[in-house]
Amino acid sequence: MNFDSLLFESDGDIAIVTINRPDKLNALNETVISELEFCFTKLVSDKSIRGVILTGAGSKAFVAGADIGEFPNFSPEDAVAFSRKGQDVFTRIENFPKPVIAAVNGYALGGGCELALACHLRIAASSASFGLPEVGLGVIPGFGGTQRLPRVAGLGVATEMILTGKPILAERAAAVGLANSVVELDELLDAAKKMLRSITSKAPLAIKYALQALRASDLPLAEGLSTEAQLFGDVFATEDMKEGVAAFMERRKPSFSGR
Ligand code: COA
Repeated sequence: MNFDSLLFESDGDIAIVTINRPDKLNALNETVISELEFCFTKLVSDKSIRGVILTGAGSKAFVAGADIGEFPNFSPEDAVAFSRKGQDVFTRIENFPKPVIAAVNGYALGGGCELALACHLRIAASSASFGLPEVGLGVIPGFGGTQRLPRVAGLGVATEMILTGKPILAERAAAVGLANSVVELDELLDAAKKMLRSITSKAPLAIKYALQALRASDLPLAEGLSTEAQLFGDVFATEDMKEGVAAFMERRKPSFSGR
């Protein structure tokens, strides 16, 4: 796939999507957002791809936010539409049926922090920082930050980060659950691939249903449990469930077909 502002490459069954505007610290303009939408839509049905790593070009920034240069032209109505568009694309990433890992290689600010939050997992370089600095610009997070940050890091940390606008460093991000792990920058991509491969070696449909069940974790408990039971039933209709259990009984490695 060729894009103006994204780089796309694959390594075996892993897709690596790099936001590529390093001179603007990979800020999210309309082109990046539309290209992310297109890319993830294509990857849903690409059977050769089992997982995605999302990262930013250069060594300084994952994404330093929505492109502030576009803000002065926005009417309130335009701003709602911009927020909705970003939210929709990020929700598409959150709902992606294969694992998506953010390899956070530097600043993850504003829309960058929100994009990382929409990914299923986050690995941070030790130089990375996460922040929602919008109130310093007189705006508020608009791509899901007020909703996803409290769900991932808790209401106390989210309130502190959103009201002070002050970024937190990688180590604290890991301590509050915002980053799953912290590694040196030059090990970041390998660490993300290693984590992704430990997921893609498992039964693909089980991973898909597990992601779907996890998404139900913000529903009222009874509804979430009911979703889990339904999906638990669905996996019992797969060939991979029979293979996984048989392989355990026969003390051999399973060979999953994704059916
Ligand atoms: N939107 C548009 N352009 C951005 C941007 C953003 N969110 N973040 C950085 N850039 C651009 C800068 O304007 C600059 O462009 P220029 O070279 O054409 O002037 C370039 O990226 C480099 O940024 P610069 O500010 O010079 O780098 P720095 O190392 O001094 O500072 C940051 C880095 C991240 C602290 C700073 O760029 C920043 O605060 N960015 C905005 C973060 C933000 O508020 N995000 C939320 C948006 S709602």
